[in-house]
Amino acid sequence: MVKDWNPTSWRAKPIQQVPAYPDLNALAETERRLASFPPLVFAGEARKLKRALGDVAEGRGFLLQGGDCAESFAEHGADNIRDFFRAFLQMAVVLTFAASSPVVKVGRIAGQFAKPRSSGDETKNGVILPSYRGDIINGIEFDEASRIPAPERQEMAYRQSAATLNLLRAFAQGGYANLDNVHQWMLGFVSGSPQAERYGQLADRISETMNFMRAIGINSESHPSLRETDFFTSHEALLLGYEEALTRVDSTSGEWYATSGHMIWIGDRTRQIDHAHVEYCRGIRNPIGLKCGPSLAGDDLLRLIDVLNPSNEAGRLTLITRFGHEKAGEHLPRLVRAVEREGRKVVWSCDPMHGNTITVNDYKTRPFERILAEVETFFDVHRAEGTHAGGIHIEMTGKDVTECTGGARPVLAEDLSDRYHTHCDPRLNANQALELAFLVAERIKKEQEARPPRQVVNF
Ligand code: TRP
Ligand code: MN
Repeated sequence: MVKDWNPTSWRAKPIQQVPAYPDLNALAETERRLASFPPLVFAGEARKLKRALGDVAEGRGFLLQGGDCAESFAEHGADNIRDFFRAFLQMAVVLTFAASSPVVKVGRIAGQFAKPRSSGDETKNGVILPSYRGDIINGIEFDEASRIPAPERQEMAYRQSAATLNLLRAFAQGGYANLDNVHQWMLGFVSGSPQAERYGQLADRISETMNFMRAIGINSESHPSLRETDFFTSHEALLLGYEEALTRVDSTSGEWYATSGHMIWIGDRTRQIDHAHVEYCRGIRNPIGLKCGPSLAGDDLLRLIDVLNPSNEAGRLTLITRFGHEKAGEHLPRLVRAVEREGRKVVWSCDPMHGNTITVNDYKTRPFERILAEVETFFDVHRAEGTHAGGIHIEMTGKDVTECTGGARPVLAEDLSDRYHTHCDPRLNANQALELAFLVAERIKKEQEARPPRQVVNF
């Protein structure tokens, strides 16, 4: 058990990013109800993910983490979930096959509802209203009523997460993710693009391999790993009252787990060591992520690691670095060196989205070239430092949106208004996500070839 910790101990700490609920009794009532609802995930699943991430931390495997910046109540349709999952499976299979690397699959989904904001309010045409903080807290519409934090939204988010997770589990385990279906994951609107061509060729090779294996008696009926995949969920643990209500003791180990998702992370804005978000996360046993931006000093990172992973358990902590394409080359090496010097076991993951946001024609966007450039720098730095480039963390959708500019079938600045649907930050569309997967697969392969063999086998 973690010392001097319980699911409510964060309440005694200073805290950032708290919504101003007008009715605290109603809030407490909602939290009480949530606390009586079933958990969304099981502790055993969180442990399984932690083991898989432990392998990544040791240099075996790659973490693919991605999904919406913010999920929304309005876009809670089966089509959305399915299209996201298809695009995500395509990325995963490209990475697995082209890079011959196991891929740990973690969605930013089924709980990614709360958003930290740089300002508490928003001004439009001289009108000032509280900022939108995600559908779990208030409404995105720019009117006074929508922007008032409403506790009942937490129950809606819980129920949407449960339904989303249910469908994802069915897709992952029920046959949709069968490698025999690798051609069918192609999304209609991607076809005809350079990415589609490339993906088609890769899928052909996988089908050929499957046919060969079938001929020698290995098939998806006899080998579940060919027809099923482990898919995990994650979100930023921002709204701590909600997280607390879903924090439960695992009956087999007697330890506390967040059951709102398999993995949760601490944002770059809420990682103060003596504050509430770090306090909450240190006590739960799930794998956790920590977003690391340019303002994080190496010493502070080490102190955070002491608090969040005191036993240096591989897989417990994923450092998600987000510097921006121009700054990554300066900041990543100093953090890598600090962590390596102290022998801390972490997964290094690259978030190439959040440091690369600019405004074009009044749209928040991210140039695809800059996203690729930060990923390239991430691999370059880990190559130079001798550490394992362990994963990527991206904002993406399975829809054909026009939110990030660039890509092989380019979205231009003047296209941004066409299909700009995000509730928060701009996401990669399915085409751009696939293009990124091919690039990452190539880099992983290159790193494997460059790396000296780990063990010398004596005959
Ligand atoms: N079970 C394996 C894995 O998850 C193989 C696999 C099955 C797979 N379906 C998949 C891999 C879909 C990627 C995408 O790695
Ligand atoms: Mn975001």
